[in-house]
Amino acid sequence: MSATPSILYIFYIVAAVLFILGIKFLSSPRTARYGNLVAAAGMLVVFGATIPLLHEQSWNLNCTLMAIGILIGLALGALGAYSVKMTAMPQMVAAFNGLGGGSAALVAGLEFLRRAHSAEGIAPFFAVTMLFATLIGSLSFSGSIIAFLKLEGHFEKPHTFPGQNFFNGLVLLVILGLCGYLIGGQTTNSTAFVILFALALFFGIAMVMPIGGADMPVVISLLNSFTGLAVAADGFTINNLSMIVAGTLVGSSGTLLTLLMCKAMNRPVTNVLFGAFGSASGSKAAAGGVAGTVKPIQADEAALLLAYAQRVVIVPGYGMAVAQAQHQVRELSDELGKRGIEVQFAIHPVAGRMPGHMNVLLAEANVPYDQLCEMEAINPSMDRVDVCLVIGANDVVNPAAREEKTSPIYGMPIIEADRAKTVIVMKRSMAAGFAGIENHLFYKDNTRMLFGDAKASLNALVAAVKAN
Ligand code: TAP
Repeated sequence: MSATPSILYIFYIVAAVLFILGIKFLSSPRTARYGNLVAAAGMLVVFGATIPLLHEQSWNLNCTLMAIGILIGLALGALGAYSVKMTAMPQMVAAFNGLGGGSAALVAGLEFLRRAHSAEGIAPFFAVTMLFATLIGSLSFSGSIIAFLKLEGHFEKPHTFPGQNFFNGLVLLVILGLCGYLIGGQTTNSTAFVILFALALFFGIAMVMPIGGADMPVVISLLNSFTGLAVAADGFTINNLSMIVAGTLVGSSGTLLTLLMCKAMNRPVTNVLFGAFGSASGSKAAAGGVAGTVKPIQADEAALLLAYAQRVVIVPGYGMAVAQAQHQVRELSDELGKRGIEVQFAIHPVAGRMPGHMNVLLAEANVPYDQLCEMEAINPSMDRVDVCLVIGANDVVNPAAREEKTSPIYGMPIIEADRAKTVIVMKRSMAAGFAGIENHLFYKDNTRMLFGDAKASLNALVAAVKAN
């Protein structure tokens, strides 16, 4: 079976357009599901366009292998989508990304070995693309596995040792040296290639181990962009336009997302990669005496403050995700809405542990989109808020980011909850958030602490508001 390449290119362009539209739709919670379907349709077009390219002699076998691969992928994807909890979504993304990087490395690696030992040999340009895909794909694979394990709570803390950056730099130099050796005419040296492959896997581990668990979303996004670039390089290797387009899209969107997250935390990418943020020493240095006293409040008293407010702003954070309290939050918001109280949700771009974490949870609980406000939109009117209810958020409302020049989060844009007339903070204890530092907000005169698990506290609040 054969088809003219020009027809295939039309299919590839259709798929590329579907991928781009898919990403466009993914940019809003309203259209995100639709975006997923559109991008999946693009993938289906590419699968279809691949069939005529399969070798005629082994056409049946290759089609069967593709069908088996698609079925396994569908089964695992569906199982993951239905069974993985919302809080475990970053792990799932890490696992998927790792598999993508590993596949890209295998395609490039096997093609390299095949061509190196064939009569035609490898032209330098293709040697570069194949080694690039092997290197980047394998480090993305092993790095994603470590990111997955860290998110699962294993060796979460940054694992560092003196001279680590120097050691990692040395490994990278050896890898680059081996690449130079192979490209410079020694492509048939399989031993050098296997060592390169193993070192790239090791480098992925060495790169992610010194980074703290809560920085994993940034790392995964960066590794995701690596996977995209590896796939694009594979596309050049096997002359597949759709892989070049899809890989470049993933590479660029991953890079943009990484930079956006770093900007929202006011930390350069280098600080995430080499700063060991969240390590014990860093946290200790940051903690300090904070002026003011902590004033606890009970649910019925907090319900009174809410019931007599005109405008309430809810700031959700990682603790809401841990407590899975989004449905109770929605119930409270509805109850206040029935009383004519204006309720808005202030969403910080890095609240929680993954991009859009809060949006996804609140969408799951059917909170209307028009109640969600971005940080920049809500901050100017925070002093006109009667009650700001902070639910399991900590770093993203810490005024130290504005007030304390020596704080590790100084300069990070925050939701200015402290400017509200009254602030009620819901959390279980005085424990620090991800940054491991004291929160000045908890000690302010206008702040009351409602201690307890967010879900239990919200249930009590809803009952008390209803009783008022
Ligand atoms: P955090 O600062 O991590 O604070 C979460 C708070 O939730 C904790 O202080 C914890 O206090 C509380 N909590 C935990 N379980 C709870 C429960 N069951 N009920 C009630 N409270 C609970 O969260 P945040 O304000 O959302 O900030 C996110 C942090 O992650 C930022 O520092 C950000 O830079 C970092 N980060 C985010 C991302 C993305 S993309 N979102 C990426 C990298 C890093 P208790 O233990 O006392 O309850």
